Amino acid sequence: MLDLGCGTGRLSLHLRELGYDAVAVDSSAEMLAAARAKPGGKQIAWLQGDAGALPLAARAFDAVVALRMAFHFPDLRLLLGAAIGVVKSGGRILFDTYNWSPRAWAPLGQGTWGARIYVHHPDQVQREARGLGLDVVETRACFLFSPYVYRLLPLPIVQGLYRLEAIVPAGLRARTFWHLQVGDPTKGPVGPFVALAADPELDPARRGGRVRGRGDLALASPAPTGP
Ligand SMILES: C[S@@+](CC[C@H](N)C(=O)[O-])C[C@H]1O[C@@H](n2cnc3c(N)ncnc32)[C@H](O)[C@@H]1O
Repeated sequence: MLDLGCGTGRLSLHLRELGYDAVAVDSSAEMLAAARAKPGGKQIAWLQGDAGALPLAARAFDAVVALRMAFHFPDLRLLLGAAIGVVKSGGRILFDTYNWSPRAWAPLGQGTWGARIYVHHPDQVQREARGLGLDVVETRACFLFSPYVYRLLPLPIVQGLYRLEAIVPAGLRARTFWHLQVGDPTKGPVGPFVALAADPELDPARRGGRVRGRGDLALASPAPTGP
């Protein structure tokens, strides 16, 4: 699997724990250095590269995962096009988009919160995905706020927000997770993926009772069955 825009390897390392062969790409040398230094980092191939010109062979991957990455792209088709180029026929593309965020309206607290983000309306994502020949397998709207807000809150409050989220209309939730398939939807080397709202970062036993990471959909699939 390719973790595109891997950052400091949060997802790549999790994928490795799940038993996937993970290759991770990011444009930032600093992020990659931090990822490499983490426990388990030596088991993953970390590559510096830009999504616009990936240093990878065409159709080499069963799946591309790009979490918290799409918001960097004013035109999502650039990211989807990059993923399509490296995924096998029948393979999967998993990513998330923001439905709304104060950081899309104004460059709020850039120093603290990072750069401005781009939101992508779910209808537009559907249209663009289908325009590129992708099959939309599954979508899920989650989270009342940005992950950066969840990160600051104690676990019981986050758990309360999760309960509240269940009764808030999907259109008001902050993010949508997408599971797309490239090529013939009747066949595929990977599968079936199920998106889960289970995130090891939310496990209080692992995080000292405080949410230090942020909720994201983790991936679950049948355990990989060999090459
Ligand atoms: C918010 S971080 C998310 C990291 C990781 N996916 C996660 O969920 O923890 C976004 C990452 O995308 C990388 N990035 C942004 N634009 C990129 C591009 N055009 N090509 C490759 N990486 C990019 C950034 O360097 C950053 O590490």
